Amino acid sequence: MSRMSHGTISVAAATATSAVATRDAILADYRRKTPASAALHARARRSLAGGTTGNLRYFSPYPLYFASGEGSVMVDVDGNRYIDCFLCNGPLLLGHCPPAVVAAIAAHSATGSLVVNPLLAVEAAEELQRTVASAERVRFLNSGTEAVMSAVRVARAYTNRPNVIKFHGHYHGQDDQFLVGLGPTSDAFGAGVAPGTHANTVLLPYADAEALDALLSRRDDIGAIVLDPAMHSGGLWGSDTAYLRTVRELATRHGVVLVFDEVITGFRMAAGGAQAVYGVTPDLSTFAKALAAGEKLAAVAGREDILCCLDPERPAGTPAVFQSGTGNDGTAALAAAAVALRTYRALEASGGYARLGALSSRLARGLCAAFTARGVACHINQLGPMLQIFLTGEPASFVRYASVPTGTLALFYLALINAGVLLSLPTSNHIYLSFAHTEADIDCVLAATRKVLDQHDFASLVDAESPLQGEKR
Ligand SMILES: Cc1ncc(COP(=O)(O)O)c(C=O)c1O
Repeated sequence: MSRMSHGTISVAAATATSAVATRDAILADYRRKTPASAALHARARRSLAGGTTGNLRYFSPYPLYFASGEGSVMVDVDGNRYIDCFLCNGPLLLGHCPPAVVAAIAAHSATGSLVVNPLLAVEAAEELQRTVASAERVRFLNSGTEAVMSAVRVARAYTNRPNVIKFHGHYHGQDDQFLVGLGPTSDAFGAGVAPGTHANTVLLPYADAEALDALLSRRDDIGAIVLDPAMHSGGLWGSDTAYLRTVRELATRHGVVLVFDEVITGFRMAAGGAQAVYGVTPDLSTFAKALAAGEKLAAVAGREDILCCLDPERPAGTPAVFQSGTGNDGTAALAAAAVALRTYRALEASGGYARLGALSSRLARGLCAAFTARGVACHINQLGPMLQIFLTGEPASFVRYASVPTGTLALFYLALINAGVLLSLPTSNHIYLSFAHTEADIDCVLAATRKVLDQHDFASLVDAESPLQGEKR
């Protein structure tokens, strides 16, 4: 596993005039290049809520609309081609249209899109067991949100305790109980999350073993600890192995179910997920995103004695937990998952993950060098094939970086879009590489980076002003 920081020099003083000129030049290029996206946005606003398929896909002046993707390239509705390092926020770990996945879906297209208890579900579950050592039993569902919700419900039933520990900076989907403490404060994320809905969520700082120990020592009402080992939403800080071991020990000692939310890290940090990389085994894990290489599928997997709460033939005295979903049997998704999981294991055996990690390190080093050479302080967090950029010279920490202004970075991503690279959606700061990316792609991304940093004076941008609107998580 590679987790690296890249260092820095300080930002030059800015004049507001040149900052505005830089922003206006980038926006003008964007409008010139993407008239069909502009027109589609105006049309979409009359049908799709907010004109997009999700809040995080919006950025000002209007978002891009895409027509297709293949390998490492995505094509927008204007016909512009982009090297895609956003991967639809992560699922496309094998790139767009991976041939083996496309073929598997086509081979099952005559089966019907939904049949009850398809053979494919058994095959996909067996592939997951072969890929993730702790997956004694598997329940497939439709989204990461549902998977975490269901894992926690099972944990509450199994322990007969109502409360769940969640850490600051960790995102676990859009269930109200987890839409709290996404940053260093305990605020709910967005309107409409009623306080009662997260009354059973106990927030703690991550990587603070003493705080966890103290809490578990004084309370006997905690049923689960849930964590994202990458801390992706909070800035991609990853985990410390010793800390994770302590969490494991404390959970076992206090009879608490430990849930690794591997929706982001699953199959990405290694075929066996973050748990294989850190060598720490959770009781339950949740997977989605790369599980079916872009098809809609999620899973809860883990200990048989815990997941038997979902089993109608469970031993007497075992609590009965409800979990069912109309789309749990989707044949396209299950066919895709079975082949994707086999592919991840084959890639691991052939050194594919090491190559992908090396590619990502090269990208991180090259991006950081390009910024620092032009007087812009830069820090990059990298974890396997995931990167996040922070334009600051501040010492690295979750709490400090949560308030680093992101306007300049958003403009940089937009300028890269103008240069044919979707490194991230401008307001997301989520960069992912896939197995479809090549050395040549990284060369192109770095050449485009140098070009836009030479073309526009990023060191002069006034960062306190956020020039692009969008929603960040
Ligand atoms: C760690 C983590 N858990 C859960 C989720 C929710 O997954 P989904 O968007 O499939 O509901 C996400 C989504 O980004 C995530 O990053």
